Amino acid sequence: MKTVLVTGGCGFIGANFINHFVPQMPDTHFVNIDKLTYAGNPLSVAQQQNEPNYSFEQVDICDSDAVNRVFQKYAPDTVVHFAAESHVDRSIHGPADFVFTNVVGTLHLLEAARALWKNDFSDKKFHHVSTDEVYGSLGDEGKFMESTPYDPSSPYSASKAGSDHLVRAYHRTYGMPVTVTNCSNNYGPYQFPEKLIPLMILNVLERKPLPVYGKGENVRDWLYVTDHCDAIMTVVANGKTGETYNVGGNCERSNIHVVHTICEIVSELAKLNTEESKSLITYVTDRPGHDFRYAIDATKIQSELGWQPKETFETGMRKTVEWYLGHPEWITDVRSGKYREWIDQNYAARGEK
Ligand code: NAD
Ligand code: TYD
Repeated sequence: MKTVLVTGGCGFIGANFINHFVPQMPDTHFVNIDKLTYAGNPLSVAQQQNEPNYSFEQVDICDSDAVNRVFQKYAPDTVVHFAAESHVDRSIHGPADFVFTNVVGTLHLLEAARALWKNDFSDKKFHHVSTDEVYGSLGDEGKFMESTPYDPSSPYSASKAGSDHLVRAYHRTYGMPVTVTNCSNNYGPYQFPEKLIPLMILNVLERKPLPVYGKGENVRDWLYVTDHCDAIMTVVANGKTGETYNVGGNCERSNIHVVHTICEIVSELAKLNTEESKSLITYVTDRPGHDFRYAIDATKIQSELGWQPKETFETGMRKTVEWYLGHPEWITDVRSGKYREWIDQNYAARGEK
């Protein structure tokens, strides 16, 4: 039996990864380690808790002793590293946690893997999950390639860039079999409602203002979360050691287009008036250092490994809205006091434009 240690498996993408692969791969033991920060919710993986091929340990990856203990206990041959502080706006308000978790936490995982695996790297894999934001901002033209120079704009993307370099350095220096994926914006079930898509879905439902930064012209490439999970597993299984793969949905949309689409789908499914939903849109002061556009050239993973996204933006958005409409208990659970404090801090300071 293979043992895959998943970090951050109670967060958005990690939980989707666990829920997708634990039932599909009964001969693989998945060990989920997560600190359970505000962004990590055990409810998101509750359906796996009694499965024989699933274990959970509450571990902070910044605690090297705890990380070493869990590596020695389970002896994983594969690591899939999701755990991170992941929200750009929070990184602007307080960058330190981003450096600790994203850089120092990654270092502790690499060191624990090196200590466990010693120099026997046969059938081992350290996969690092990263973002396209490390490449910085695009203008109207062009796409990020794996060869695009790093040029991060926010403390979040700078800390992810640091961790990407560290992971690749462990390959070059120690021969560790690493792979890295840099993916565009994900959406789907279990996404914490501080991010654009779930925030807008819930605000439309609750008839609250829809805060669009700047003029809403910034462009993101959107990928449905299980397509990202499949891409990660494809790279873990067949990716070349030491290589980086860009992952994207070939689905560029301006933020205002995304918000209009959400107003339309939520209004249709929840039987609300679409025009009234759109009238909730409120333009607010822009994010400092706001990257204008992200777009991904995913030719490498498509042509070398045969990965393709299955969902379109329209099918993925509909599934996402249906999921949020069907899971009010999950929403109540994640909206703790800390979430409310964050909403007050981030949006009160912005004001309407
Ligand atoms: P998330 O914020 O929803 O979840 C992060 C998880 O990590 C949470 O469960 C949290 O409890 C855990 N965590 C945080 N600090 C920890 C620590 N010190 N020790 C242990 N666990 C800790 O993030 P996400 O959106 O699921 O992103 C997962 C990964 O994918 C991140 O590395 C992110 O950079 C990357 N990524 C995200 C996107 C996206 O659109 N969300 C796109 C590309 C790449
Ligand atoms: P976000 O979901 O925070 O992802 P990222 O910053 O990692 O791309 O934001 C997606 C886009 O939506 C980004 O251009 C910022 C914008 N945005 C808003 O306009 N309003 C909001 O309230 C939020 C959270 C984001």
